Amino acid sequence: MSFLQSLANRRSNYVLGKDVDVAKATETIKEAVKQSPSAFNSQTSRVLILAGAEHDKLWHEIVATDLKAEMDRQGVPESAWEGTKGKLDSFAAAGLTALFFEDTDVVKGLQEQFPLYADNFPVWSEQSTGIASVNAWVALSDIGLGANLQHYNPVINDTIAKTYGIPASWNLRGQLVVGSPESEVAPKDFMADEDRFKVFGA
Ligand SMILES: Cc1cc2nc3c(=O)[nH]c(=O)nc-3n(C[C@H](O)[C@H](O)[C@H](O)COP(=O)(O)O)c2cc1C
Repeated sequence: MSFLQSLANRRSNYVLGKDVDVAKATETIKEAVKQSPSAFNSQTSRVLILAGAEHDKLWHEIVATDLKAEMDRQGVPESAWEGTKGKLDSFAAAGLTALFFEDTDVVKGLQEQFPLYADNFPVWSEQSTGIASVNAWVALSDIGLGANLQHYNPVINDTIAKTYGIPASWNLRGQLVVGSPESEVAPKDFMADEDRFKVFGA
């Protein structure tokens, strides 16, 4: 398969199951993250992988509890909860979740070491975490797994840190839900190339 075909095959799949070789998926995520570039090779991304009962606990207990509390705090009507809970159940139906963080201590260290680029390091770190996440997503797609990307941070940050002993410097940025693809994904619309790309001299 060509790399461009691999990129096209990576899609957001929301109908996922538990038919996952967790060891293989874990190795794939680790290798994809390790091979991802980062500014000054600072390797600021960090990953917590939750599989099996821990994956179920993430969606059925941690996210469900913290999100419901936040919705109540914001005065969201009780009737909205059923739909939200259905969404969380669909994530729990998948096989594992990879939670992506940035190590802000490393970012701060770089800012002190290279004051000239101080403003850029948080942006580069964010970009690097995005690159690592999507590389993992593509690599998982290459081994036949489906995934979707969620953002229940910062609502779940404290509970995740407490439950899994995550250092205070790790800032949660996204949750990649991974599972066996249980449905086809609809074709994607693309904006017109002429509105998106400018090419000169070709
Ligand atoms: C930075 C970023 C943030 C996203 N956040 C979410 C999200 O919070 N929830 C979600 O369901 N999908 C999220 N997505 C998925 C996008 O909606 C999806 O990638 C886009 O619609 C294109 O579809 P595709 O992934 O199938 O190519 C996110 C994607 C990116 C790149």
